[in-house]
Amino acid sequence: MGASLFWTLSLNRETSLILTDGCMADETMKGSILNILRAEAKGAVSGDRLSAELRISEDTLHKHISELRELGYPIAETAEGYLLADSPDALFPWEFPGRESRIHYFPEATSTMDIAKALAGEGCPAFTVVIAGCQRGGRGRLERRWHSSEGGLYFTMVTRPQMPPALSFRINFSASVALVRTFQRMFDIKAMVKWPNDILVDDKKLAGMLSEMKTEDDRVSYVNIGIGINLNNDPTPYEANATSLKQLLGREVSRREILSEFLDEFEARMNEGNFDNVISEWKTCTLTLGRQVRVATVHDVSEGFATDVDENGALVLTLEDGSAKKVVYGDCFHQM
Ligand code: BTN
Repeated sequence: MGASLFWTLSLNRETSLILTDGCMADETMKGSILNILRAEAKGAVSGDRLSAELRISEDTLHKHISELRELGYPIAETAEGYLLADSPDALFPWEFPGRESRIHYFPEATSTMDIAKALAGEGCPAFTVVIAGCQRGGRGRLERRWHSSEGGLYFTMVTRPQMPPALSFRINFSASVALVRTFQRMFDIKAMVKWPNDILVDDKKLAGMLSEMKTEDDRVSYVNIGIGINLNNDPTPYEANATSLKQLLGREVSRREILSEFLDEFEARMNEGNFDNVISEWKTCTLTLGRQVRVATVHDVSEGFATDVDENGALVLTLEDGSAKKVVYGDCFHQM
């Protein structure tokens, strides 16, 4: 195929349908075409101008335009030229300028965790992001299922922090702080964290986080962080204590903009590489401390007053008999 673009419909490891773009420059080209069309939101852009600005032949331009149409972009051809009638909330690599080569988008997948694990095992770069439009086998913490219908945002990021495995929990805390900050900044909503990494608004769950790590010679090889956010989907009746951004704001939101802003925030924190203050910053965003909680694992249940989160991310409880107990994992329920 050489440097030419090839879109193939193929079956991936999990038999979900994927689109494979064979040439990075072509992904960037699609982004550039869309940028020009978006900048002329009210008017058409002639094929001659597009070809000249992008330095591509008319044939190549037509090929890109028809592929974009097939992928759901409503590009009309008028007497004046091409017109982008509407900008769909698409998650293709070219919708994330500067990140194209690290974005893997699947309209449907079993679980982005599985795909990210395979990519990380094959040596993909840090900040590779696997996104799914919906998941058939979305996984939650503690072996639960994560309902992943269309409209939500489901993705897994591959991180490769230079740290001993015992400190890797800091990546999860950093990601939850980054997500809270993103929601607060973009929507001015009171998003807060429930220990360890659930994001709540009005005590209802908006987003959940799952992580998987691989170590090699006592170093972290990768920490994959999977995040599921209820955005334009309605949480199912099985998730009684859940909410979505659509329900909170009364309107639909852009998955692409939210993911883009979150990745900027999270990557900046990761690149800074100083996680010494992550627990203290996390404490400023949590609803869990200073209240009575119940923490359940598959083995036992602990109940107590949540007094602190220690430097290892463990929740410190004061039990009824006055003794202290540290809980390192589990499902935390806030008692009213
Ligand atoms: C939880 O709160 O239990 C964690 C939910 C994590 C769900 C996300 S959706 C993207 C990624 N893929 C999965 O299968 N799970 C995570």
